[in-house]
Amino acid sequence: MKVLVVGSGGREHALVWKLAQSPLEPELLCAPGNPGTGRLARNIPVEASDVEGLVALAKKEQPDLIIIGPEEPLVLGLADRLRELKLRVFGPGAVGAKLEGSKVYSKELLDRHRIPTAQWRRFDRSGIAKSYLESCKEWPQVVKADGLAAGKGVFVCSDAKSACSAVDEIMEKRTLGAAGDRIVIEECLVGEETSILSITDGETILILEPVMDHKQLQDGDLGPNTGGMGVVSPVPSLAKRILRQIEQRVLVPTVHALRRDEIPFRGTLFTGLMNTEAGPRVLEYNVRFGDPETQAIVRRMKGDLLPVMLACADGKLGEIESPEWDERTVVGVVMAADGYPAAAKKGAAIDGIDEAEKDPEVVVFHAGTKRSINGDLVVSGGRVLCVTACGADVHEARERAYAAVAKIRFDGRQYRTDIGIREQSRAALRPVLAPVIEEPIIVQESDGGPALRRRRPLEGS
Ligand code: AMP
Ligand code: GLY
Repeated sequence: MKVLVVGSGGREHALVWKLAQSPLEPELLCAPGNPGTGRLARNIPVEASDVEGLVALAKKEQPDLIIIGPEEPLVLGLADRLRELKLRVFGPGAVGAKLEGSKVYSKELLDRHRIPTAQWRRFDRSGIAKSYLESCKEWPQVVKADGLAAGKGVFVCSDAKSACSAVDEIMEKRTLGAAGDRIVIEECLVGEETSILSITDGETILILEPVMDHKQLQDGDLGPNTGGMGVVSPVPSLAKRILRQIEQRVLVPTVHALRRDEIPFRGTLFTGLMNTEAGPRVLEYNVRFGDPETQAIVRRMKGDLLPVMLACADGKLGEIESPEWDERTVVGVVMAADGYPAAAKKGAAIDGIDEAEKDPEVVVFHAGTKRSINGDLVVSGGRVLCVTACGADVHEARERAYAAVAKIRFDGRQYRTDIGIREQSRAALRPVLAPVIEEPIIVQESDGGPALRRRRPLEGS
């Protein structure tokens, strides 16, 4: 069996690492990959945004499964092009990918199907958006570019002045290009943020173990927003009751909405939520695995990921057994380059990874790394590495992860020292939860709204 993974980040290294352990012993290819994937797969130098190059590669290699990691090729319709060639693909086509590629599209879908989300308005012209903001009584307001913006398209604004300047940045200065042709302005939600990763083929949804990301650059959730500076899983603070609400009010209705709207979807549905006093509200959908969330997921998933992805790509997710999860805790610490996220400095030599991986519970995933001409490992992107460790509890996982981080050196390295700390204090109050969702949920059409069926009832339900 030949499997091609598209992408070059930590997420793709994590997927390749997990697939390399499959008893099906796949031959792994990665395009373009990174030095981490290069140890487990054959890296092929075709960029993830090069749709034509990837189509040509797939025609030549004829993989049995193609897994598309990042959002850009999904939004560009790579999955459709590959499916036209009768290839098996994990990842939605262009229409499904609009859930991430257009905020207006996803907000319209949410409203149409009464899935809870922040109240919002769409604006196509900056003047009208600014007049609306001048008239707003409630603050803060959230200004969002419609299109893909690599995490730079959302502005939480405390007053009309800053909100109007966000509108100017997006729509007048066009700092995000065509992604800023339209904007969404929405109410600011208050609560704790959670994201839930799931795999769906449009009929069945397999909800993966919750992971908590840490988006700000600095300890204590200070500093600029980033792609994610660290992860912990499981998330003891996410009560079973809230998870069940998310499942019933958001995730199952979303699959149901995809069916009703005839949006084919075979891939990852990664839902960002705010747990407000009034219940969970959707902040956004992503149509791919999270990075660095995936690095924690693969460390905790005990079973084989490959049959899950194959079944999803074939539309047969309902036929597989759900994977089992390691009950231990995983902490992942992202090591970022000097200057990240504004302007990452490249070229610093990295060392100490082998030393760090001497602890058998530690795995270091590569993201922004490359080999220099003389073969040295050097920094080539903003988020450089994700250092993951398993432990019996958050405390042990943190100790191991940070002992490993201390062994890895490169000039200007930045990392947070508090990944998992909040969960550590909560874990002391509450025992670590066992996995809640064990079986794929089968979503069936019914007149009165979404229905769900399981092979085994949830514990306690
Ligand atoms: P998004 O890309 O839509 O997830 O937005 C990025 C981040 O902005 C989220 O992770 C939240 O922290 C914040 N955010 C987005 N929408 C809202 C909202 N309506 N209320 C409060 N915070 C928000
Ligand atoms: N870690 C957030 C993301 O992948 O979008």
